[in-house]
Amino acid sequence: MAEFSNDKKTIFSGVQPSGNLTIGNYLGAIKNFAEFQDEYNCLYCVVDEHAITVRQNPAELRRRTYETLALYIATGLDPEKNILYVQSHVPCHAELGWILNCYTMFGELSRMTQFKDKSAKNANNINAGLFTYPTLMAADILLYQTDIVPVGVDQKQHLELTRDIAERFNSVYGETFVVPEPYIPKHGAKIASLAEPTKKMSKSDENENAVVRILDSKDAIIRKFKRAVTDSDTCVKYADGKDGINNLLTIYSSFTGKTIEEAEREFEGKGYGDFKLAVGEACADALAPVRAEFDRLIADKAYLEAVMKSNSEQAYRIARKTLSKVQRKLGFTQIR
Ligand code: TRP
Repeated sequence: MAEFSNDKKTIFSGVQPSGNLTIGNYLGAIKNFAEFQDEYNCLYCVVDEHAITVRQNPAELRRRTYETLALYIATGLDPEKNILYVQSHVPCHAELGWILNCYTMFGELSRMTQFKDKSAKNANNINAGLFTYPTLMAADILLYQTDIVPVGVDQKQHLELTRDIAERFNSVYGETFVVPEPYIPKHGAKIASLAEPTKKMSKSDENENAVVRILDSKDAIIRKFKRAVTDSDTCVKYADGKDGINNLLTIYSSFTGKTIEEAEREFEGKGYGDFKLAVGEACADALAPVRAEFDRLIADKAYLEAVMKSNSEQAYRIARKTLSKVQRKLGFTQIR
């Protein structure tokens, strides 16, 4: 079982089970997680409660929850060293989420760009959960007295709100929550769509050619990179206005560990076709072992359920402590 120590800093991150994870999720977040497991207390949560802010098919949600957990483990996160669990298995998240709703302003939530984007996309289902999504996310983070939150840049605004909520609560009730810091990796933090390289690669994109998924076959990966939108120039160089090429260089550099400059030199005098093929191959090769491990794990439901159970019990014990402290400070009566 993961050792949770007061001497270590705590890292928390959440991933939605709402779609097949992309190389954007992998390079921007999950791939970096394994580096932390010895030095930090690490919690990674499959956020099924966040997922239902947009309509989900129940069978698919269930399947993807298992898959997301299996994928975390397949990417190198050891469930003995990290707390890997499912949000709805720890009721403290929803409870603290409610409390934090009462310490978050309507105006603050109205300014969240993700809310505006998702409302535009789901115009017939602008539900209250979509609006208060960031307070549940704040609860996820604050329950564990988190120091560091690795997130993609698109989640930075939610993290800033989390900090504001924590500071507000602390200023009214005295030190209660650790105020968390974002951790945004330099490269690969923001992988763009292969079809519209000015937009983030999104796991829910309707155009499958825009998105490379961690579990895509080698053939699919190569094909998608071949079709990636570039520009009418012919030079593999990172530059303003070359969003497609910049994105491919970022992906190549993240998978190979080479710097952008090294990659530029490698492809000097070569065409976009050669470059795209090399990016596809680097990506497929790096993901092959992840996929093999995933296939093994997903066939072993009993193991995944044992991980869910033991890790959520451990998460619960930590979360419960913070929640009790909050409830005491608020003036809730305590009978246990
Ligand atoms: N909102 C995050 C996303 O869509 C997922 C998430 C939920 C999360 N709770 C979190 C991320 C807490 C970091 C910390 O990517």
